[in-house]
Amino acid sequence: MRILILWNFIDDDVYEHYRRDDRRAVDWDPTLLVEPWDTVEEEMQLIVRSLETKGHEVSLVNIKDDFAALLGAISKHKPELVMNLVEFFHNDPEHEHHVPALFELLEVPYTGNKPLSLSLCQRKPQAKAIMATQGVPTPKGIVIEIGSKMKVPAELKFPMIVKPAYDDASGGIDSGSVVHDRKALDTRIAKLHSENKMAALVEEYIEGREIHCAILGDKALPLYEMVFKGGLDDDGKELPHIITYRAKWDPYSRDHHAVEGKCPPEGLSPELVKRIEGVALSAYRVLGCRDYARVDMRVDTAGNVYVLEVNPNPDLAESCAFAASARASGRTYASMICEIIEVAIERNKQPKVVSTGFDMLLDEYRAQHAVEIPKKAVRSGQRGS
Ligand SMILES: Nc1ncnc2c1ncn2[C@@H]1O[C@H](COP(=O)(O)OP(=O)(O)O)[C@@H](O)[C@H]1O
Ligand SMILES: [Mg+2]
Repeated sequence: MRILILWNFIDDDVYEHYRRDDRRAVDWDPTLLVEPWDTVEEEMQLIVRSLETKGHEVSLVNIKDDFAALLGAISKHKPELVMNLVEFFHNDPEHEHHVPALFELLEVPYTGNKPLSLSLCQRKPQAKAIMATQGVPTPKGIVIEIGSKMKVPAELKFPMIVKPAYDDASGGIDSGSVVHDRKALDTRIAKLHSENKMAALVEEYIEGREIHCAILGDKALPLYEMVFKGGLDDDGKELPHIITYRAKWDPYSRDHHAVEGKCPPEGLSPELVKRIEGVALSAYRVLGCRDYARVDMRVDTAGNVYVLEVNPNPDLAESCAFAASARASGRTYASMICEIIEVAIERNKQPKVVSTGFDMLLDEYRAQHAVEIPKKAVRSGQRGS
């Protein structure tokens, strides 16, 4: 099959710089070495090679934030399928979902999620609202808009976490994001409003284990735990057990070395694993996801599972959680990449149907209220409008 992989990258690759500087040890502990990471370009090349193992004819285009390049790549390569790995456009993650909207208009089949799911998952409060009505547990929370007089209600229990309502990749999350009293809460909300220029999502902080579930097609892959090893921040204060921006993106930071991925997690009973997977699949379904996604969750000591967010365009790099989960399932990296293509091809063969993912509401409603929901809202003979 003729496949066009699209990605978008404009800045210098920071890992290229690290490599050039040949800086291996971290400043705060000369014995601690940083493993070299691939550049994004190298990660993309690996995806190309993976697809070529299956005989696909692959082109790779960095659209470099240029709409003409995006359109030009499609008209030049005339792909039978686009592998959409674009995460932002014009430096704006909100444009992420406009890219597949273009494929929809051009009627070019593509891998991954549709515009609605991409957009919804990025808007954490809206995604939480939908999950809540569908019985998918998420932490209790409230949104405080910029300029709002609204106060966080006393029903929400400390500690809380203050995060940007519409960001991802741990943007705006650092060791000060978890707050333990009202003064710190108000200060943090004000800081987020002024620095991130964005509404704040304040949630009850879920003490417990952080478990991520990669979903491929309609199946959950082995769970992945972010294990918090503890440690101190630059000021000597205990780092909170959260994945901060630095933990994700700065391999020289203390935050980064305080977290370690483990796949599969240790010591989860088969029942709990099943429950976690069930919650993840429900979240995926009610947010209208397809092909693949990663669901981030916390599990408290009582075994309650909470969805923090659904990532409908997760990082597929070999070093990331999604690929680790695929490996733990017995797949090679190449077979995982090829399977994403196969899932999309298979889906495209099916007749187009409009699915809401909301069938659960009726089932749950019936179970809870023991009432028969009429099959048809409009009785025969009566005209609907
Ligand atoms: N309610 C919460 N309770 C505990 N930790 C949380 C909560 N919300 C977020 N976190 C921590 O912050 C990290 C980033 O939050 P998340 O909602 O996944 O946003 P992002 O889109 O930035 O990844 C999570 O991986 C987790 O470690
Ligand atoms: Mg996350």
